[in-house]
Amino acid sequence: MADADEKLRVEFNQWAADGRGEEMESHHLCIAQPMFQRMALAPGERVLDLGCGTGWATRLAAHSVEGGPGMAVGQDISEEMIARARAASVDIENVLFSTGAADEIPWREDYFHKIFSIESFYYYADQQAVLRELLRVLAPGGQLFILINLYTENPYSLRWVKELNVPVHARSEKEYVKMLSEIGFVDAVSERIPDPTPTPETYSGKWFANAEELRDFKRIGALLLVARKPPEK
Ligand SMILES: C[S@@+](CC[C@H](N)C(=O)[O-])C[C@H]1O[C@@H](n2cnc3c(N)ncnc32)[C@H](O)[C@@H]1O
Repeated sequence: MADADEKLRVEFNQWAADGRGEEMESHHLCIAQPMFQRMALAPGERVLDLGCGTGWATRLAAHSVEGGPGMAVGQDISEEMIARARAASVDIENVLFSTGAADEIPWREDYFHKIFSIESFYYYADQQAVLRELLRVLAPGGQLFILINLYTENPYSLRWVKELNVPVHARSEKEYVKMLSEIGFVDAVSERIPDPTPTPETYSGKWFANAEELRDFKRIGALLLVARKPPEK
């Protein structure tokens, strides 16, 4: 495994051991819900959750595609995250998890009808290589949904860049849309997804100076990137 991936694996194994995998559900659910609405998952579809962590969103997707061949696959570079994802999913028949880096997805080409990734894409050392791999495994006409909080138009998120223990990409909305088109996706668009949850009157965490900043961060919102693999001619 390349050095960058090995760093990510070690870092996120530690996050998993510290219980941060499970915590992410409560942080990301409110921005994931609007993404799921736009995805409109249907029974029988095959869906991939890339950088799935402990798999809460993979399980939600599995429920939505239940019926016939419908299944959800979660992949993550951290084997500790995947161990937790599997343990939490034993009662769900149409969900599967695999450990591995995002630029190597162990599925045949044209397999998934839809792919999503929540708060993970900016960690990938070679984002273009990952997009090429996603284009390979996506079915013709299939859709990709990438949801991220870290991008240049949200200045608060840029504070994370030097605080995180692993390198991350800070790119603009325009750069991402251009990258998707350059790789071969079509109909690439971006949208802001504000976090509508109420903000407490006082804030005592490390990322914001006060509650007003946190409110502003949520108002600016996450970035949702949506694109499609060209349909078969
Ligand atoms: C902030 S967490 C988000 C997890 C999950 N999507 C969620 O919302 O709870 C980022 C996840 O991306 C995974 N990740 C980071 N780099 C990766 C890579 N190169 N390949 C696959 N997964 C990666 C991490 O292991 C971690 O589980």
